[in-house]
Amino acid sequence: MQLFLDSADVTMLKDLAATGLVDGVTTNPTLIAKAGRPMLEVIAEICEIVEGPVSAEVAATESQGMLAEGRKLAAVASNVVVKVPLTREGLIATHAFAREGIQTNVTLCFSAPQALLAAKAGATYVSPFIGRLDDYGAVGSELISEIRAIYDNYDFDTEILAASIRNPAHVTAAAIAGADCATIPPPVFKTLFKHPLTELGLQTFLSDWKKTGQSIL
Ligand code: E4P
Repeated sequence: MQLFLDSADVTMLKDLAATGLVDGVTTNPTLIAKAGRPMLEVIAEICEIVEGPVSAEVAATESQGMLAEGRKLAAVASNVVVKVPLTREGLIATHAFAREGIQTNVTLCFSAPQALLAAKAGATYVSPFIGRLDDYGAVGSELISEIRAIYDNYDFDTEILAASIRNPAHVTAAAIAGADCATIPPPVFKTLFKHPLTELGLQTFLSDWKKTGQSIL
């Protein structure tokens, strides 16, 4: 399973990319607004930090505008993935991007039929938003299971990118449901390393080791 960071905070990305555990990055207009800098500049910097796919979202709502913006974004670096909304216009653009060899991440997916259409349009990734579905009273991870079954039934190459992840349990649920990737906000990513029993166990081991008076080196 690939782990992406859902952030446009370059400092945070550098810190976590240093672990070697970050396979890619996703951004969206909200995250770019938080960064408070020109989008193309931010995306270029992120692409230098992370070798893997970096999603950059279009702002146009009509396919022709999405195509123009997407081509400009894709020209920033070879690892840019153009993110388009899961709308009729977005899927028209996705189909055209696929024919041009431009990678896409079809975002704001909230149903299995939407995911089926994204795959048929030739999306590289589809992003089901599990946290927002949970907020709405549904079980977001069930959508991932449904998409997994559909994509496996028909051998679609589109990768399932679990998005809108709010906690470590969402990461577990996405992995069990068979997501190919999960995009995780940095604060949640940091909690994945931790467990109180790991801390406690390590303290005991270190204190017992000290008693031996030994040194390994
Ligand atoms: C995914 O690509 C989106 O940027 C993101 O996961 C949305 O998450 P949110 O629902 O927490 O805003």
